[in-house]
Amino acid sequence: MLQDKDRIYKNLYGQRSWKLKAARARGAWDNTKEMIARGHDAIIDEVKASGLRGRGGAGFPTGLKWSFMPKQSDGRPSYLAVNADESEPGTCKDRDIMRHDPHLLIEGALLAAFAMRAHTSYIYIRGEFIAEREILQAAIDEAYDAKLIGKNNVNGWDFELYVHHGAGAYICGEETALLESLEGKKGQPRLKPPFPANCGLYGAPTTVNNVETISSVPDILRRGATWYASLGRPNNTGTKLYCISGHVNTPCTVEEEMGVPLRELIDHYGGGVRGGWDNLLAVIPGGSSVPCIPASECDDLPMDFDSLKAVNTGLGTGGVIVMDKSTDMISAIARLAYFYKHESCGQCTPCREGTGWMWRVLERMVKGEAEKSEIDMLLDVTHQVEGHTICALGDAAAWPVQGLIRHFRHVIEERIDAQATKLIPASVPVAAE
Ligand SMILES: Cc1cc2nc3c(=O)[nH]c(=O)nc-3n(C[C@H](O)[C@H](O)[C@H](O)COP(=O)(O)O)c2cc1C
Ligand code: SF4
Repeated sequence: MLQDKDRIYKNLYGQRSWKLKAARARGAWDNTKEMIARGHDAIIDEVKASGLRGRGGAGFPTGLKWSFMPKQSDGRPSYLAVNADESEPGTCKDRDIMRHDPHLLIEGALLAAFAMRAHTSYIYIRGEFIAEREILQAAIDEAYDAKLIGKNNVNGWDFELYVHHGAGAYICGEETALLESLEGKKGQPRLKPPFPANCGLYGAPTTVNNVETISSVPDILRRGATWYASLGRPNNTGTKLYCISGHVNTPCTVEEEMGVPLRELIDHYGGGVRGGWDNLLAVIPGGSSVPCIPASECDDLPMDFDSLKAVNTGLGTGGVIVMDKSTDMISAIARLAYFYKHESCGQCTPCREGTGWMWRVLERMVKGEAEKSEIDMLLDVTHQVEGHTICALGDAAAWPVQGLIRHFRHVIEERIDAQATKLIPASVPVAAE
């Protein structure tokens, strides 16, 4: 279990003030100038050594990503874009950082931008986050007033930080769609390459990082890569914010050591499954975009990138959605399919047509109004969508359906059987007999 001394987010629940004075008392903005004095590449090396992997869903190594940014400017500025779009169902961690500990994010943005030789950063915040935006902006104003950021600030690196409020679209969390939207265009992903580090915001080198990723950077630099890497295990280091929701007694977001067992998260922090552990049916462990796993796989499962990959799912955003035996799994996944159909930007045919197709078939399967052969047809369609689109929304739509068929095919079949029996009135003799 994570010890209090190793916690990065000391005000996750907002029990204390988010303001600068209180944040400073918790350790924020401590030695920032000295950290910057270490130099751009020393910071990148330290972040690489810490093993930090992106907390936005894909888990890409952060230091490596930063090293793709140009060391010499060709005349174009470099940018850092902080992804605060947080729209993944089951995920509610970035908003807690922004409304309860925003100075961690602001300090992290300065340090990350400095490491990548960027003087400007934008925080792209989800449209629905009104209170979070107001607090974040007030904290940024405090940082400007205290000359912690801005021109000729006390930390020695000129740095402008802007908050950009989105209009509320899941797809704008995808990094290239986010950049398009920041430029004032329609928020639609674009093909990579070129990657943002070569050609991003306004055609200039840009790195996009998640709020949790960036806000963990000051502590990593203050306490050292060795401390961070001592938590978790190789390739899966540090702490993580897990959001526990669904059929638990006390849903919450909690910071724990990477690799904490799933059952400990649910029992200790989530107050247990409603009706007890034996009433557990399935868990979606990483936000709605990853495949579900059945209760039988949940017992000792370490919650980290590699352990979840080994059971054909993923850590994603760390949004743990717990479902007890009252759940109609077909209906639950059909609802997610509707979400992806609704959020598809429509550029790619497999995603635009496939998401709607999967949703419609699942809606019929909820009622058992399908042929058993359609289960494999549905699976086949998920494979035609997965990997065949511009952005990963296509994969995100396909994976939950694949999880359903992998673990709950029998439920779909039983529903079809039950419906078939119902359709034949008892008085009519069955032809085959
Ligand atoms: C459809 C879609 C939605 C996404 N939404 C978010 C989001 O809300 N927040 C986020 O940080 N990353 C989101 N991502 C991932 C980003 O594209 C990107 O990988 C991430 O911001 C990189 O940050 P990291 O390296 O710090 O994880 C989304 C990706 C896709 C395909
Ligand atoms: S995969 Fe879907 S959301 Fe992504 S670009 Fe293609 S149509 Fe748009």
